[in-house]
Parts: sequence; C-alpha cells; structure tokens
Amino acid sequence: MYNRNRVQELLADAKPGHTLPQPFYADPELYQFDVSAVLPRSWFMLGFEAELAAPGSYLSLTIGPHPLLVVRGRDGVIRGFHNICRHRGAQICAEGAGTLAKIVCPYHRWTYELDGRLAGAARVPDGLDFASHGLVPIRVELLEGCIYAALTDAAPDFAPFREAAAPFLRPYGLARAKLAYQSELIEKANWKLVMENARECYHCAVWHPELKVSFPVVFGQNFRVTDGARNADYVAQMQRLALPVGPAQGSWWHVGRYPLNPGVHSVSMNGQEVVAKRLLETHGAPIGGLRWATEPNSFCHAFADYAFMFAVVPVSPTESRVISKWLVAQDAQEGVDYTIDDLSAVWTRTNLQDRDLAENNQRGINGLGYRPGPYAQGAEELVIRFNAWYRATAAESVRG
Ligand code: FES
Ligand SMILES: [Fe+2]
Repeated sequence: MYNRNRVQELLADAKPGHTLPQPFYADPELYQFDVSAVLPRSWFMLGFEAELAAPGSYLSLTIGPHPLLVVRGRDGVIRGFHNICRHRGAQICAEGAGTLAKIVCPYHRWTYELDGRLAGAARVPDGLDFASHGLVPIRVELLEGCIYAALTDAAPDFAPFREAAAPFLRPYGLARAKLAYQSELIEKANWKLVMENARECYHCAVWHPELKVSFPVVFGQNFRVTDGARNADYVAQMQRLALPVGPAQGSWWHVGRYPLNPGVHSVSMNGQEVVAKRLLETHGAPIGGLRWATEPNSFCHAFADYAFMFAVVPVSPTESRVISKWLVAQDAQEGVDYTIDDLSAVWTRTNLQDRDLAENNQRGINGLGYRPGPYAQGAEELVIRFNAWYRATAAESVRG
C-alpha cells in the first residue's frame, strides 16, 4: 500500500508545467499508488475487436498487478473480467490471445461460461452458491472497433469520447479490419516516462530519421502544420471529402486529423502506401493521418492503408511494456497486398529509438541531481496535458 499523506505532500510539490518529483518515476510506493489508485480510475486501450472475431476468442493482459481478460461471448458481446479465479484466486488465462469454449482455471479446473458465470467445479465446496461466484466484471467500451477497458466505476464517463471520436474513426471501418502484426517491447522506464516521450515530437527531428520522412515532426498546436496556408488548404480538402479534421478533446482524450508531409500518402519508409487494399478509399487524394489518444496509455494513428496502435502497460516502478498493433483491410493478403516488413518498418524503428530515450530519461531521473524541469509550451503541449491529467487524477484518487 501507500502512505496517503506522503503522496499528498509529493503532489503538492509537483509544479504545473514541470516534470514530476523523482519518486513519481522510480519509487515503489508511488508505483503502488499509480496501479492501485490512479490507473483503476482510467480507460485503458487494449486492442481491437478484429482480434476477437469469433465467439470464445479472448485477449489476456496484465496491467500492473491486475490480470484482465476480454472475451467474445456466444451472443457476440465482448465482455471483460478480472482474470482471477473465484476459488482461490489463481490467474486463469495465461497472457496472450486465443480461443476458448469455456474459461477454465488451470489450478482446480473451476469452469466459467464465456459470459463469466460459474458453470461447474469438480468436488464443489458444500453449498457453493454458483450465482455469486462468477468472474468479477470490468467495464468494456467499444469505439468503432477499438476496445477500451476500465477496472472500476471510478473511471470517467466514456460517452463524450465515443460521441466525439466515432465520426472521425467510422470511415476507416476498423471493426471489420484485421490484425496484420503486433509487437512488444519491455522498456526499463516508468510508464509515465514512456508516455511523456510518446506525447511529444520535440525529439523527433533528431531521433526519428525514418519517421520524419512522412510524419510532420515539427507541428503547431494540436497537430496543425505550422504553415497556415497549407493548413487551410488541407482543411478545405478534407471538407470536400467529408472527413472531419477537429481537433476534439476532453481531459483524458484527444482526436484530430493532420496532414502528412507534402506528397506523402502514409507513414512508411518512403511515404507511399504500404498496403494495396485500403481501409479507406481516397481515390488518390492524400488524407493525412487521424490520431486518437487516451490517457493513461495509448495513441493510435490511422492512414488510408493501415492503422497503428501504441499502448503502454506498467510492469514495475521502472519497467513498462509497449504493445504495438497494426491493422489492415480484412481482405488485404500478406505477401500479395503488403509485407510485414514494409508495414511495420517505420514504427518498429521509432519504438526502438523511443525505448532508448525513455530508458536514458529514467537513468537521469534515478540520480541524486535530478530536479523537475519545465516542459516547452508549444513543442511539449501534449506532455503538459498528460502531466495535468496525471496530477488531477492522482489528486482525486488520493482524496478517495
Ligand atoms: S484457484 Fe481456480 S480452480 Fe482453484
Ligand atoms: Fe519518439
């Protein structure tokens, strides 16, 4: 557990617009605070409906110490549960994905239906009330094919995000797309450092030579290109295609469309599309990228030919997992319409470069000489938002 007074004092020391005091990035007690108080009040991006196509298909993922399970029922409904047996508390499904007929605990084989009800147990304890021993549910929300989950009812209302973001996402048809590739990285950095790095492109021009071929690494507020005339032109073109530009945002989410570099059609090594069958037919018009991002853990980009998810999961005070997923049109065939190498090349390199940055940031912060420093107002606008979200959610959590 954590000491409420200590957390309160440290939060009082955290200055707006500045990196956090050292314990927030390294101290086991503050990590406990994050995973038991802050993160359960938040929506996590877990993946895509496309991964759970058939009844019984599931995703199992551990966030901090919390094993979770998301599974599609026989009725087609996607539900989420704590992946914890109601007998003696064993984790039921190992991390990963697959398909189940029933949810069976490996320990003593208590068996649950796909909707979480306890269905059977060998040598049942006397008088066991099945109805009150189903899996403990978590909240799950679907947004145009994206799956978000929250551990408790303290997470904010999802509806404003869904209502604002759905018109942006709908044209891409992600619910009907397919998962082409996924990857995982373990980074030796606190989850907030991984996220802070993911929320700015102040470092991009120097650190991401591949990304900057297609991606506008220097942009103005809200992913606007800094050239006003080019931006106005882009907005007019998107209006003609009936694609919303935005941005729209709430305290924990942000969605908006932005132009890629001139002449660029997708984020790839050469700026050209990497999937022959598109998610969204544009008849050759460059539509730029659509970015949607949620605190605490994700950003996604969709282009005409593919969509990309980046999600962070805390593992320990100074360790995080970065999960990346690439979606393509359902009828796109690997080896015919795309190759994994071309599809994943830029983001894979970018992720490795970012891992080095986050780990290097952690090494500095661990030292005695670390002092919270100021974020740049323009270039780190989205980090300032992340930091404000964290401080506000932490303050709410510590009040109970
Ligand atoms: S802990 Fe799951 S069946 Fe015993
Ligand atoms: Fe980066």
